[in-house]
Amino acid sequence: MEQRDLGASGLRVSAVGLGTWAHGGWAWGGAEDDESVAAIHAALDAGVTAIDTAPVYGFGRSEELLGRALRDRPGEAVVMTKAGLRWDDDRGPFFFESEDPRAGRVRVHRNARPDSLATEVDRSLARLGVERIDLLQLHWPDPSTPLAETCGALAELVRAGKVRAVGVSNFDVAMLEEARVALGDVPLASHQPRYSLLRRGIEADVLPWTWDHGVATLAYSPLEQGLLTGRVRGDRAFAAGDQRNRHAHFAAEARAAVNRGLDEVVAPIAARHGATVAQVVLAWTAAQPGVTCVLAGARRPDQARENAAAGDLALDEGELAAVNGAFAGLDLSFDRAPRAGGLRGVLRSLRARLRGR
Ligand SMILES: NC(=O)c1ccc[n+]([C@@H]2O[C@H](COP(=O)([O-])OP(=O)(O)OC[C@H]3O[C@@H](n4cnc5c(N)ncnc54)[C@H](OP(=O)(O)O)[C@@H]3O)[C@@H](O)[C@H]2O)c1
Repeated sequence: MEQRDLGASGLRVSAVGLGTWAHGGWAWGGAEDDESVAAIHAALDAGVTAIDTAPVYGFGRSEELLGRALRDRPGEAVVMTKAGLRWDDDRGPFFFESEDPRAGRVRVHRNARPDSLATEVDRSLARLGVERIDLLQLHWPDPSTPLAETCGALAELVRAGKVRAVGVSNFDVAMLEEARVALGDVPLASHQPRYSLLRRGIEADVLPWTWDHGVATLAYSPLEQGLLTGRVRGDRAFAAGDQRNRHAHFAAEARAAVNRGLDEVVAPIAARHGATVAQVVLAWTAAQPGVTCVLAGARRPDQARENAAAGDLALDEGELAAVNGAFAGLDLSFDRAPRAGGLRGVLRSLRARLRGR
């Protein structure tokens, strides 16, 4: 699979990477440990070299499983984890409350204070079983901590040899620029934003900025949590505790609208290549200018293999344009969606946009 530069870090990552949020079980209605480890091994076998995790994914569980999976295969993956969300320290702005079978009732706070980052990194190193984290990303901005202090701490972790490269996630352009300057001689290696065929917000300014500054973009939730695989049909039910039970883009009408675009435009392209809908969607995402690595979540080995193979799927200009056009009129950019109208508002705008397609 094609390997691409992780910004100026000197590291190289596969065009399709593996996301391990679901391995933590939390927010995904549970997960099987052995299956998660098998999924990681299947991804490695298929040429994936970029694996993303975070302490908050199952409150340590995802990192521990990645550590277990890599124990026998050291050095095969660029290990990318995060810091900045604490469930065991109530300093910093409250972010969300949740329930986890392992951690119980948790209240998660954004915390990018230097001492907290240092504590988190030591714990991540232990869970992952590595001497150095390849990429440490600030998970979410913490408005209560000056970014210069956070960046100073990140740079210090690089100098201390605990971290090879640093990145950020869920940043806007102003924060990216501030971080780049504050890091001084330590390059800002990467930014991890949410980006998919249905959620194109970063194309306006964030993606051009990272492209211009040689900062890698690691696109998260490229399959819109499974919706863009064509396998979430109207009758698919999710387990209790699965976040998809409450997301507007998994409501019946949204599923139908998305599946129509997949069936009419993406599936015929997939058939021409002997590929799947998910693979065409991932290949399209990886082909977008400025996108370095597409972080596709996979719970099972078959999903990991399927997603990894998308890294070898080349779509021609006509196919890229057709996939682009399939959803051009369908604005599911929920970050910008008319929240005031709630789900009804989202669906109204969906219908209106489909009519204009
Ligand atoms: N920085 C951040 O704030 C942030 C936020 C979110 C995610 N991320 C990272 O990005 C990664 C990917 O995002 P994501 O996990 O949210 O969503 P995603 O990659 O869009 O979707 C992953 C889910 O889709 C389903 N799926 C995957 N491959 C499939 C296939 N080939 N066929 C059918 N279904 C398939 C699986 O769920 P089912 O099998 O249960 O349907 C899987 O858990 C995460 O794991 C995490 O590493 C980062």
